[in-house]
Amino acid sequence: MRATTDLDGLGLDDGGHLLVQRALEPLPPGGRLTVTGRHPALRVHLTAWCREHGHRVTEPHAGGRGGDGGGGETTGPDGSVEIIKGTAGEQRWRGASRAGAADGPPDERADPRWGLAARGALVEAGGPPIGAEWTEREHVWADIAPRLYAAAAASQWDPATAVNWAATLDVPDEIERAVVQLMTYLVENEQAALIIPARLLSQLHPHFREVMQLLATQAADEARHVEIFTRRGLLSGGPLGTSSAGGRASLQTLLAEPDFTTASFLLSVLGEGTFLDLLRFIHEHAPDKVTADVTRLALRDEARHVAFGVSHTAHLVTTDKSYLGVLRQSVERRHAALHDTAGLNSEVFDSLVLLAAGSWEPAAIRRGWQAVRRLQHQMDEGRRRRLAYIGFPDDEAAELSALHTRNFM
Ligand SMILES: [Fe+2]
Ligand SMILES: [Fe+2]
Repeated sequence: MRATTDLDGLGLDDGGHLLVQRALEPLPPGGRLTVTGRHPALRVHLTAWCREHGHRVTEPHAGGRGGDGGGGETTGPDGSVEIIKGTAGEQRWRGASRAGAADGPPDERADPRWGLAARGALVEAGGPPIGAEWTEREHVWADIAPRLYAAAAASQWDPATAVNWAATLDVPDEIERAVVQLMTYLVENEQAALIIPARLLSQLHPHFREVMQLLATQAADEARHVEIFTRRGLLSGGPLGTSSAGGRASLQTLLAEPDFTTASFLLSVLGEGTFLDLLRFIHEHAPDKVTADVTRLALRDEARHVAFGVSHTAHLVTTDKSYLGVLRQSVERRHAALHDTAGLNSEVFDSLVLLAAGSWEPAAIRRGWQAVRRLQHQMDEGRRRRLAYIGFPDDEAAELSALHTRNFM
């Protein structure tokens, strides 16, 4: 098979090799390409380029006569050069495989040898494998992940402008101290909620692109929550409130959870699920506009985090019913680990009561107390509802909900 290409005055040092490459592409190994052109170093450059790419330039005919298709002579009066295509190109792509399909759902199992290749790319063999821990679709996937990512990308907000930080803060001192204590507590919980998806992300095979993207937006959401709660906590001039050993112990168990699904279950289904009620409560009883705004904004993001945790866990359970036992054990293990800790910072609990009471009047404190009891009841109902959705029978859902950490998260 023969082909020709004309480089005109273009040299190989100016991109001429692209034309040569393009003309060689359809030829089989052994096929011949006649290159014509006026560049004075054409033969010299082509010889070097061909050596590098596994092709061969035929020797110019001793008589200097142009080739007529019958022999090996290549340089005629027109300055043409003849190339014989080598086998390196074919060999390079031998053993290459597609990293799944670009336009479909991800494969059931992502090959570590695909490494960082785009989903659907033709992957040259021999690159470094990726050291990802989660390579099985069912262990990380939820059908809702692409839609949740799109929703997350569309609803990113700017902490600088989404909250009117200049709004007047006319809150009685003691109520303000309660708000500051709650913000201090929220920040440490948000920090745990940021680190966990970031850690899951770092061990996820990038073939599961939508989950990777969703976890990245989740971490970005938490970064903003850390910011707005810190900022509200310091709005009246500081200092911040307290951090209890028991509360931090509760969060530490989440950081140590090694499995993707149990980490997502404990953090997002049980912890962030409970936080939906908590944030709504603080929002409803907010004594100022800024507190109402920061809790409303965080609440909107948290709903997505919970939706992914619930959908993913339910998805895995539909493919493997026995996984309910693994989830159950993760709750029991965490409960046992936290058995000797106080759980919730008592100052957080008291702050919630005072926030709902609005004053130190005994009748108001009673109302505040009752409101917090109702909150705890709502949190329990929410957990039971989500556990039942995942597949737990009602009695087991009630039992597991009762074992959930007193720290809420
Ligand atoms: Fe958050
Ligand atoms: Fe979250």
